[in-house]
Amino acid sequence: MWKYSELLPIEREESIVSLAEGGTGLHRCKRLGRKLGLKKLYVKNEGENPTGSFKDRGMTVAISKAKELGKKKVLCASTGNTAASLAAYSARAGMECIVLVPKGKVAGGKMLQVTMHGARIIQVKGDFDQAFKTALKLAERRRDLYLMNSLNPYRLEGQKTLAFEISDQLDSKTPDTVILPVGNGGNISAAWKGFTEFQQLAIAKTRPRMIGIQAEKAAPIAKAVKRRENEIRPVHNPQTIATAIRIGSPVNWPKVLKAIRESKGTAETVTDPEILLAQRELATLEGMFVEPASAASIAGLKKLHEGGKVDTSETIVCVTTGHGLKDPSVLKRMPKSQTGYNLEITNRNSLDALERTL
Ligand code: F0G
Repeated sequence: MWKYSELLPIEREESIVSLAEGGTGLHRCKRLGRKLGLKKLYVKNEGENPTGSFKDRGMTVAISKAKELGKKKVLCASTGNTAASLAAYSARAGMECIVLVPKGKVAGGKMLQVTMHGARIIQVKGDFDQAFKTALKLAERRRDLYLMNSLNPYRLEGQKTLAFEISDQLDSKTPDTVILPVGNGGNISAAWKGFTEFQQLAIAKTRPRMIGIQAEKAAPIAKAVKRRENEIRPVHNPQTIATAIRIGSPVNWPKVLKAIRESKGTAETVTDPEILLAQRELATLEGMFVEPASAASIAGLKKLHEGGKVDTSETIVCVTTGHGLKDPSVLKRMPKSQTGYNLEITNRNSLDALERTL
């Protein structure tokens, strides 16, 4: 993604801390498209990034900036992916890293990543919103800690490259609709900024409709859009299997509402069973294994199409934000018939039995 460096806020090339992020695939999905009744469906698979999520785009820019500013210690609150990304990039830059996560609510793969990269993990009782408030207060008290949450403008600058790539991969033909899962709202607003910049630079003629998807019991933004309200009502004790977007009080909500309004987009909510079904369909029909939060974009698309809010012939890009291996707990939710057979082959009879099952 550093091919877009002219549009990124880093002064000196030697400041760049990179793990070869960006350049993820934009995959045409004909089989899933046929199933959903859509002619031009694409998935922009951000799980292909170095730490397995879209966060790396923002992190490479924000850590490079931190280096330029002479910072030595970085801090974030996270539902897991920001923490994993920050832990990796701070290790690469030789900085100390502290992450605050909601206790017991972070997917196993993400905890493993953070631990492996040597960051200090502090588990905060409560949900992400409490962890975030704690991080804000800590950063106020301790000026040596540089806060890396999506309030950090450099992260959003990096994340806008998602839009540049989508536009380039479609030969500057802007898609009609871009659908993203929404948690804190950084990614959808950064993508909107990216599409806007490409239009201002006359690289692209138009901008797409931006659609945000949230989990039903963690959906303050989607509900505000549906109620046509100009402010969100925070959700206390948000719940969803998609722990990455289990956020009740998203900090970037004004920017998200603005992006949706300006783009004439919308928002939708999806249930946990709908998310899990979409995750399986993308994996079995297209070979892409994404984490539950990412599958929310596909689940949301299905609902929007059923509700007549998306046309059959539109060019649609669903952004899948993180890799499926991050959250192995999903295995427990799968039907027994799909999780394998136990068979000891001792003689010809058991081999015959095996053959009959196939
Ligand atoms: N998808 C995944 C896999 C995420 O990890 C996140 C956010 C989102 C979607 C939503 O993006 O917050 O920019 O609207 N994860 C953050 C974290 C909150 O701490 O890793 P958003």
